[in-house]
Amino acid sequence: MSLLEVNGLTMKFGSLAANKDVSFGVEEGQIAGLIGPNGSGKTTLFNCVSGVYKPTSGRISFAGTDVTGTAMFKIARMGLTRTFQVVRPLNEMTVIENVLVGAYLRHPDKARAREEAERCIKLCYLDEWKDRPAGAMTIGNKKRLEVARALATSPKMILLDEAVAGLTSTEVNEMVSLIVGLKKDGMTILMVEHIMEAIMPISDKIIVLSGGVKIAEGLPGDISRDKEVIAAYLGEKFSKRLAESEKLKGERR
Ligand SMILES: Nc1ncnc2c1ncn2[C@@H]1O[C@H](COP(=O)(O)OP(=O)(O)OP(=O)(O)O)[C@@H](O)[C@H]1O
Ligand SMILES: [Mg+2]
Repeated sequence: MSLLEVNGLTMKFGSLAANKDVSFGVEEGQIAGLIGPNGSGKTTLFNCVSGVYKPTSGRISFAGTDVTGTAMFKIARMGLTRTFQVVRPLNEMTVIENVLVGAYLRHPDKARAREEAERCIKLCYLDEWKDRPAGAMTIGNKKRLEVARALATSPKMILLDEAVAGLTSTEVNEMVSLIVGLKKDGMTILMVEHIMEAIMPISDKIIVLSGGVKIAEGLPGDISRDKEVIAAYLGEKFSKRLAESEKLKGERR
């Protein structure tokens, strides 16, 4: 049994089906990557899985429990949490106050919650910002704050919606090593990302959406060569770059 199981998920907005009969599983301890063109339904899928939307049809189970249509805070309490693509910190509150919102879900005790919030802030490289207003930070730091706030709920599994987009290359590398570190500590991760250099090397498997439909699922290497995925999303440029790097590798051998 997978930790997260999505079965025949369909989500309609009026006549538009943003997710159409999507099924996949994420195994415990895995990093799974969810990719696809803009508007292909990735965020909608996160919204269904995390309890923001009740799907039109289909089933979602987490750790063996059916969570279809369950409220977001209840799902978070079960150990499944997410970050938002459009970051929305409580701007007037300090960084630690923002993270405490997450920590209180698990630790009603004030001192214990603060300890946990501080641990997550450190983990996300936000120490120097701890007591400063969240609204004054750069987008890169706000993204880290999203992750810190989600981690403070002590999840078993985290959904990251473009946690790397819009960051500088140094920040991308830091976020990637943070994600790899979470996996080493036993976390299960499902991440949406457009930056292939960030998602492909660290994912155990990749799921591809196009027009709301799952068009492929497999190992990153196989997905990078999949003709349908290249046509729908990765594009010729990416496949050429891949072919060139493989040719180089071949020449070096
Ligand atoms: N609340 C909503 N009401 C109506 N339509 C919506 C809603 N949310 C999403 N959609 C539509 O559903 C489709 C999928 O959108 P979604 O945000 O899930 O895509 P995405 O894959 O996350 O895209 P991106 O890579 O740009 O973030 C789009 O056509 C979008 O306009
Ligand atoms: Mg999105």
